[in-house]
Amino acid sequence: MSENPDNNSKTSFQLNPWGDDLVADEDYIRLCEEFGINMVQELEIPYSAFEKNRFLRRKIIYGHRDLGMILKAIREEKPWAILSGIKPSGQFHLGTLTTASEMVEFQKMGGKIYYAVADLESYADNGTPLDIAYKYAVDNIADILTLGLDPKSYVYLQSREQIPQDMVFMAGRHVTNNMMKAIYGDRDFALYMAALVQVGDILLPQLMDGPMPTLVPVGIDQDPHLRLVRDLTRHFKYIKKNRKTKKEISSPLFKPAATYHKLLPGLDDVTKKMSKSRPNSYFNLGDDPIEIEKKLKRAFTGGRGNKEEQKKLGGVPEKCMIYKLLQIHFQPDDNKLQDRYLRCKDGMLCGTCKKESIQIIMDFINEHNEKKQEMVPLAKEILSRDPKTFSF
Ligand code: TRP
Ligand code: SF4
Repeated sequence: MSENPDNNSKTSFQLNPWGDDLVADEDYIRLCEEFGINMVQELEIPYSAFEKNRFLRRKIIYGHRDLGMILKAIREEKPWAILSGIKPSGQFHLGTLTTASEMVEFQKMGGKIYYAVADLESYADNGTPLDIAYKYAVDNIADILTLGLDPKSYVYLQSREQIPQDMVFMAGRHVTNNMMKAIYGDRDFALYMAALVQVGDILLPQLMDGPMPTLVPVGIDQDPHLRLVRDLTRHFKYIKKNRKTKKEISSPLFKPAATYHKLLPGLDDVTKKMSKSRPNSYFNLGDDPIEIEKKLKRAFTGGRGNKEEQKKLGGVPEKCMIYKLLQIHFQPDDNKLQDRYLRCKDGMLCGTCKKESIQIIMDFINEHNEKKQEMVPLAKEILSRDPKTFSF
């Protein structure tokens, strides 16, 4: 997020979907107000949804657009879609793990998953060649299958799918340079094109399989894309030809809904986002376990200055990277998580807590990587399926 240098724009800051900036905790509310994102707290979420989705339950998802529409579809037992994407420019890390796990949690609530492997965006943003992106894609899909992705989900590569590519032209007719500049700032043309490809990703479930509420679970840095697609949706329709009468019936699409999760700060510095430029700020799930452990040992905690203070005042789990890791990813048991929270507040020493927590995290990662090996052939098979869409 940065101050917007473009004074013509109504907003005072822009979110940068391709940047490294962290949205600080206190900025979330301001951002939500500024961009008209709703707070999840104000929505009545049925117990059944909380039960199935730890990101909602643990308030890691804090903001949304039109989530009520999805909850209504669930109540009425109507079909709904979940669409998100991943840039195949490296192995799964803690950030990509968040979106992927979130999709799997929403899948438990009954949505059908569509997953975009954004190799065109990786090329536009990082210059990653498509063949290298493909190798990462196999690896990334094996990860999400291990997390529980239904193999019947629609997983596709942007470079092989017609709808997202055509969308550059189709949506491009309704977008001016000023609009793009107001949303994204002054960018390479390729990034503007990647943004329109992403509009195609987000509308793909409905253009391919007919109008249905679509949920896009993302980090708040992706909200610019959601504002764009929600604005453009009205220009597109789902067209179905009646085989007998040859008549075309067209139906409008639902404006895509979104949920926003908090972005994880760096392991080494809670005031900065995880970033490849600071190797101690993050790790990949596939990294050498000894290296991961080292980074965890050094991770920033919410502990006080010394033993006495810690015992007297208790720690601050809200600011502790070890606690955040357990909360978001590695401690599925609510009671155990709550227990650690209370022990921390009660003055447990960080040394003791870290030791136990690192064990929990490493067990999770080792088990994940073991299971993942078996998923690689399935990941390859899924990525070699023929794309279903040709044009629209
Ligand atoms: N832009 C996303 C990222 O940087 C990846 C992505 C591609 C995506 N297509 C999408 C996310 C559609 C949500 C919906 O991580
Ligand atoms: Fe974090 Fe544990 Fe220390 Fe609390 S006791 S601040 S949870 S490491």
